[in-house]
Amino acid sequence: METSVVRARIEDLESISLLEKAWKQDGISPNMQLSSKNELKTAIKERRILIAKNQSVEGFLLFKFYDKASCELNSIYVVKHARQKGIGKKLMRAFLNLDNIRKCPRIYVHADSLEEDKLLSFYKKFRFEKIAILMVRKRK
Ligand SMILES: CC(C)(COP(=O)(O)OP(=O)(O)OC[C@H]1O[C@@H](n2cnc3c(N)ncnc32)[C@H](O)[C@@H]1OP(=O)(O)O)[C@@H](O)C(=O)NCCC(=O)NCCS
Repeated sequence: METSVVRARIEDLESISLLEKAWKQDGISPNMQLSSKNELKTAIKERRILIAKNQSVEGFLLFKFYDKASCELNSIYVVKHARQKGIGKKLMRAFLNLDNIRKCPRIYVHADSLEEDKLLSFYKKFRFEKIAILMVRKRK
């Protein structure tokens, strides 16, 4: 069966929540915050999550709008065993093809990964350009 990309539905909430936890553990910097289940639920209702589905959910992409002119791709994740088969690209293409995203002049993404170089090259394939580096100062 081929993996297809569809809008997440409320019955996908559990799978997405598990994937989000995996996303946090396996790859991104420990400073990034997870969404709560309620936030994920709202995002599903607002049609802001895409999932890659085969027998199970193999990946997800979450985004949000700041205003009509700008939006952010918050997270994209593919389960480890399904990587390097084009699923990440499929999710990204489906996202960039959504009507409201096509009309959005600026799409931001925080390129946060422990494998930064690979991630930058992934985003560059989709014409994202590097504009900033995110830093944090923590109270001791
Ligand atoms: C980034 C990610 C979604 C790509 O998914 P994928 O299904 O493996 O990607 P595809 O098979 O469609 O495309 C492969 C491309 O992904 C990129 N890539 C490969 N390994 C990667 C890694 N560990 N981290 C980031 N990007 C990677 C490369 O650009 C690769 O292109 P190449 O094969 O021409 O070198 C996946 O590696 C992932 O979930 N990484 C962990 C989570 C993460 O870093 N998310 C981004 C921050 S929100």
